[in-house]
Amino acid sequence: MKVEDVRKCSFEKWYNAFTKVTIKSIILPLPDGFTSYILKDGIFLPKSSKEQCIAKRNSSDSEEEEVWEDSEEADVSEVPHFADFDKSIQDAIKTLGGKVFPKLNWSSPQDASWISFNNSCCCESVSDVYLLLKSSDFIVHDLTQRFLKCEDFVTDEESNKLMPDQEVEKFYLILRKWREIDTSGEFRCFIVNNTLIGISQREPSAYFEHIGRYKSDIVEDIVSFYQTHIHLKFPATNYVFDVYRRIKGRVCLIDFNPFGSVTDSLLFSWDELNSDSIKVDENRLPEFRFVDDNHGVQPRSLSYHAVPRDIVDISTGEDSFKLVDLLKMKIDEQKSSEDDENI
Ligand SMILES: Nc1ncnc2c1ncn2[C@@H]1O[C@H](COP(=O)(O)OP(=O)(O)OP(=O)(O)O)[C@@H](O)[C@H]1O
Ligand SMILES: [Mg+2]
Repeated sequence: MKVEDVRKCSFEKWYNAFTKVTIKSIILPLPDGFTSYILKDGIFLPKSSKEQCIAKRNSSDSEEEEVWEDSEEADVSEVPHFADFDKSIQDAIKTLGGKVFPKLNWSSPQDASWISFNNSCCCESVSDVYLLLKSSDFIVHDLTQRFLKCEDFVTDEESNKLMPDQEVEKFYLILRKWREIDTSGEFRCFIVNNTLIGISQREPSAYFEHIGRYKSDIVEDIVSFYQTHIHLKFPATNYVFDVYRRIKGRVCLIDFNPFGSVTDSLLFSWDELNSDSIKVDENRLPEFRFVDDNHGVQPRSLSYHAVPRDIVDISTGEDSFKLVDLLKMKIDEQKSSEDDENI
């Protein structure tokens, strides 16, 4: 896996060529200083999202600007201020129907979904998005270690430094229209030399009885989707893509991932995928792996992230401010929604 292969999977590189077969999304370049804000310890709410709450409360007040300027938070130097970016996020959420799934160029903050009230990555407000981004180790990986496992990545002292703002890489916040996805319909597809050689159930920790029952239909739909929409259209020869098959005949592209160990190989192993042992059959059909009884289930990959770094920090006393920040933020949000209700 080379740096270039990882770059090709960056969302903004492939989205425009696949808009017709994937979930509608909006790409927002991160403003200056945003990556530093994400990497900084503590979960403090950006000033501008608090202002939105104040603005909501004072929507009849023609002197909103003054209220904002004189806000008691103004002297808190640590609190970031991304007013334009917040507005773009709000507009995007509205355009996408009120609920979005956030990610950066490569990763989504799935490991942090425990922190949100709905226990998912579904975001309805700017602060929902910020809270997930700030709590996720996957997002930190995108910002600091995305090329770490690439064979042509130079790990000298310079490149190990955490200076994301200075790097040439452009980072984006991707907001995708929220879709209710039934994980039993999700599959990961492995492409070697432009051939779809393997398909794996996306959630290896569960047994879904109907996958076995409809396995030929599933393979047929995915192969046909690959041949029509993906084959030779994605600019790599080895890669991985994820799909969602909602119902028979309806397949939708979710994501592209690099062909290498940064991507979870699910019910295959990288040794197998890298050797010649997985082959298409005589009908040129890929090998399809799924959990075919309750004994074959594997541990859920995200469960490794069930105790997040933030909680470890809090429980070990390493960063007690995180808890305080988080509680403050939630109280602020609650207050502003109560005030809204009272207007
Ligand atoms: N628009 C959406 N609405 C709701 N859920 C979504 C949406 N997009 C993705 N998901 C869910 O989140 C999961 C992860 O999404 P995605 O593959 O984009 O993230 P990722 O960080 O690249 O994951 P991975 O590291 O496994 O490749 C998907 O498998 C799907 O279940
Ligand atoms: Mg992915």
